[in-house]
Amino acid sequence: MARLRVGVLISGRGSNLQALIDAAADPAYPAEIVLVVANHGDAGGLARAKAAGIRTETINHRAFNAKQGFEASIDATLRAARIDLVCLAGFMRILSSWFVERWRDRLINIHPSLLPAFKGLDTHERVLAAGARFTGCTVHFVRPDVDDGPIIVQAVVPVMPDDDADSLAARVLGAEHHSYPLAVRLIAEGRIQIRDDRVDILNAAAPAEVVMFNPIK
Ligand code: GRF
Repeated sequence: MARLRVGVLISGRGSNLQALIDAAADPAYPAEIVLVVANHGDAGGLARAKAAGIRTETINHRAFNAKQGFEASIDATLRAARIDLVCLAGFMRILSSWFVERWRDRLINIHPSLLPAFKGLDTHERVLAAGARFTGCTVHFVRPDVDDGPIIVQAVVPVMPDDDADSLAARVLGAEHHSYPLAVRLIAEGRIQIRDDRVDILNAAAPAEVVMFNPIK
């Protein structure tokens, strides 16, 4: 069967991109990473894509007077590459509802918290300030509101008493690297159904494919 054609949008180091690249290196994985688009040339993830032989494009938002032109360029690039699914992986530009609606239910994001808690930036600092005992990550379909949309996969991660934002971020990132390839696989296998803006997973080996719990080691 043809593999799902995935495009990844990045702004930074691209460790989630790497997790997707590594998953897709297995011929049995039902998706392939066809294209990586960065919004500036310094994104470390570009080198990861090139090392894997994946086509890269840099579409710099500063080259456009308005967001519409920037997004239209990304949209055209994705369409020309016949992308089926767009993954935001540390993409630091907020996409307009024009773009989000054009890719509705074919555009997903990873966020380093258990949504709907702790939307936005500085997530781990705010988790620590709130004294939360658990945090995690969420892969979700993108909707026009930031960090909002039907949840596909979540993983739970404990907060340790001596954590700082960096140690917590590193633990959550480990969960992200499992969750993103899992979510893409579920979509590629046609096992995701959106009903009333919530996700049903068909034939889930629950709970392993829905929630991963990293026990305290
Ligand atoms: C991740 O923590 C992701 O959840 C957030 O941005 C970070 C990107 O990291 N959206 P990386 O570039 O994938 O390493």
